[in-house]
Amino acid sequence: MKTEERGRRPPDVVGRSWRELDTPALAFDIDAIDRNIEKMAGFLRERGKRCRPHFKAHMCSRLALRQVEAGAIGLCAAKVSAAEILADAGVDDILIANQVNVPVKIRRLMALAQRADVKILVDAADNAEQLDEAAGAAGVKLGALIEVRARSDASTFAKGYTRNGVDTAADAATLAIEIDRLPNLELRGVMAYEGPHPKEQDPTRRRDAILRDFGVMFEYLEAAKRAGLSCEIVSVGGTATYRISSEIDDVTELQPGSYVVMNTMKSRLAPEFEQALFLISSVVGRPEPETAVLDVGMKSLKMSKQDTTDADADRPPIVSIDRAALHHLSEEHAAASLSGDARKLAIGDRVMLAPSYGAPTMNYHDFAYVLRDGVVEDVWPIDARGCSQ
Ligand SMILES: Cc1ncc(COP(=O)(O)O)c(C=O)c1O
Repeated sequence: MKTEERGRRPPDVVGRSWRELDTPALAFDIDAIDRNIEKMAGFLRERGKRCRPHFKAHMCSRLALRQVEAGAIGLCAAKVSAAEILADAGVDDILIANQVNVPVKIRRLMALAQRADVKILVDAADNAEQLDEAAGAAGVKLGALIEVRARSDASTFAKGYTRNGVDTAADAATLAIEIDRLPNLELRGVMAYEGPHPKEQDPTRRRDAILRDFGVMFEYLEAAKRAGLSCEIVSVGGTATYRISSEIDDVTELQPGSYVVMNTMKSRLAPEFEQALFLISSVVGRPEPETAVLDVGMKSLKMSKQDTTDADADRPPIVSIDRAALHHLSEEHAAASLSGDARKLAIGDRVMLAPSYGAPTMNYHDFAYVLRDGVVEDVWPIDARGCSQ
């Protein structure tokens, strides 16, 4: 659905300062975005790896096209509905980095495959057959990658995290042979996502752990090469692992997401990327000299509690003014504690927050103001927001 169709037109504010905008308002620092895009693209180019950024990190097709202009071969999408938005925007090479195994969704996937080069992850033979039959009926050839499960550290799994995927190289090879004989599925390679791992801060232990996570994939790749099965795409990686994972010879492409706009949660793991996503808020109350009420709340800002052990890291910092800190978030409002000069904040003043969890925060907003040096240069729809089907 287009922004206009939702009846939520962005106001005509090009040329205005961020301090004049109605709030809460999502904002991109476009210079920081361009530097982040180029940093990742340049790094992977030098390593001879392809870049396939993950769309779920921003859900903004204008940003996706900027990544493609900078050399990305295409994008990853988590969901079919998000992939549809990418195809609408003209992105042809799309990897849906998940399984699609429910009939109503398979039909939707096939309609998409009729107009874009879509690849999908498979981890079960019955799903492969289901997809093959549907692809045959739709008259398309669907690209398939085997998903091998990257076994993350015990603590991540203990917290309840899991992913689909095949757990042994032998099972992966059996599935690959099965896919290879299906007429309408094209075996293109393998994917393993090691992303949840990097909570490990020590660089040596982190590297060892990431490589250990890929153990099943390495074994599978050896078996697949011996059997002459396609390993043309070996897709891995995220913002916190791309340096280590791109050292692996067999890896052909990386799928980082957060690096482009960043968030305070990931910035501890990949400090080379700049915060480029902000949430602008107005002071709407000054109930006490050391407290301000802001107009952002749980409906416009997502915090990352479940993903961090550090309670303070979860609170988005207020970056536009010193000595002001968020200390409570309710549905529509937040409370900030003020000290020093921050006590001069008055009703109507704007502050800028750096979200701790970028993508879900963006999912609350219809559009983002594109700022250059604090002035609105453009307004981009977050056109795949809400695309979780
Ligand atoms: C399969 C997959 N690939 C890539 C990414 C991108 O990770 P990051 O945002 O850390 O770059 C994600 C994020 O969760 C993911 O689920």
